Amino acid sequence: MKIAVLKERRADERRVAATPETVKKFTGLGAEVVVEAGAGAAVHITDDDFQAAGAAMAADAAATLAGANVILKVRRPIMPDEEGTDELSPMAAGQILIAMLNPLIRRADCDAYAAAGIDAYAMELMPRISRAQSMDVLSSQANLAGYKSVLDAAEEFDRALPMMMTAAGTVAPAKVFVMGAGVAGLQAIATARRLGAVVSATDVRPVAKEQVESLGATFVMVEDAESAQAETETGYAREMSDEYQKKQAALIAETIAKQDIVICTALIPGRTAPVLVDGAMVAAMKPGSVIVDLAVENGGNCALSEMGRVIEVNGVRIVGHANFPARLAVDASNLYARNLFNFLSPHIDGENGGLAFDFEDETVSGVCLTRDGAVIHPMLNAKE
Ligand code: NAI
Repeated sequence: MKIAVLKERRADERRVAATPETVKKFTGLGAEVVVEAGAGAAVHITDDDFQAAGAAMAADAAATLAGANVILKVRRPIMPDEEGTDELSPMAAGQILIAMLNPLIRRADCDAYAAAGIDAYAMELMPRISRAQSMDVLSSQANLAGYKSVLDAAEEFDRALPMMMTAAGTVAPAKVFVMGAGVAGLQAIATARRLGAVVSATDVRPVAKEQVESLGATFVMVEDAESAQAETETGYAREMSDEYQKKQAALIAETIAKQDIVICTALIPGRTAPVLVDGAMVAAMKPGSVIVDLAVENGGNCALSEMGRVIEVNGVRIVGHANFPARLAVDASNLYARNLFNFLSPHIDGENGGLAFDFEDETVSGVCLTRDGAVIHPMLNAKE
């Protein structure tokens, strides 16, 4: 089996889908790995490093893809109708594409993969079962994003986070409010606590309370009959009713006015992110406060945030950086590359390096979007 590792071509992408560590492991199983020249440059991995680990280097995407069975990428290919270099057309029928393909939002892409005869696998759809934790790219990337969001907030905040008792007086600790206490939110809480802030958090899933409190933060939420059902069987949040959202907005408005830093991480799979902070709430915040919106790429939890920008509204800075995990591209690449290896390796024949996916295995069937020219994932074929 030949594995191709492409250089990422999106402007905000610095990660890479394989590292010398995973190249060595793949070649150890008998697979051949070809890496596009410069693929690791943004994460300080040179072509020589890849070669020393056993990879062959190829000069461009076409040469990397030639004869490959499996293509490893970080982000979904740039499609022919998008700005930038078309990344789909150079791929050939019969190739297996494994990446973060955002299929629930980019549904039409899935038809394009099928039409091109590409078997596409979206790592974001990995089932949240214990066995698949080491393959869970949403967790590995969200964890780093949550950490970085607090550092980004600290950077924009013109005050210190911890309490400091000095001869010239006491510096009060910053108050940090984290919205959404999933993987990113919990890491944001832990990071803000380590920096000495006083932290509170909210979520719609009641199970988050214990996790938030175990990190030393206060939990606030609207608890009612609906929130008791807010968690799906797969562990994610449901979209809440208008009535719930109104109650939640009242609680947030009251809470947020007292905060210095708000970290927004709330997401609902396959939907635009819930808008939790509106313009009036921002206006009620103290000048000098900071909002970091990790959900900006999914529409944002703050109505005012703008993707890829830091803006200031009434003295409140709103941080909408695109692609937070890529802001820690070295760690994000290391973890992502391992997620891919952990996903693929059980299906590689250690004798001859061949790949045979076991479709009885839900880590395979759960992420496979297209196969033999057809869109096969039940979530993509389900009628709304
Ligand atoms: P996510 O990224 O989809 O959402 C982030 C957070 O936003 C979630 O906690 C969600 O409940 C919350 N949220 C959604 N709508 C909201 C709203 N209107 N207001 C406030 N908060 C809202 O979720 P993530 O971080 O991927 O994790 C979801 C759960 O899955 C967590 O409990 C996590 O611990 C669990 N998990 C389980 C794994 C496993 O068993 N293998 C692996 C990773 C996570």
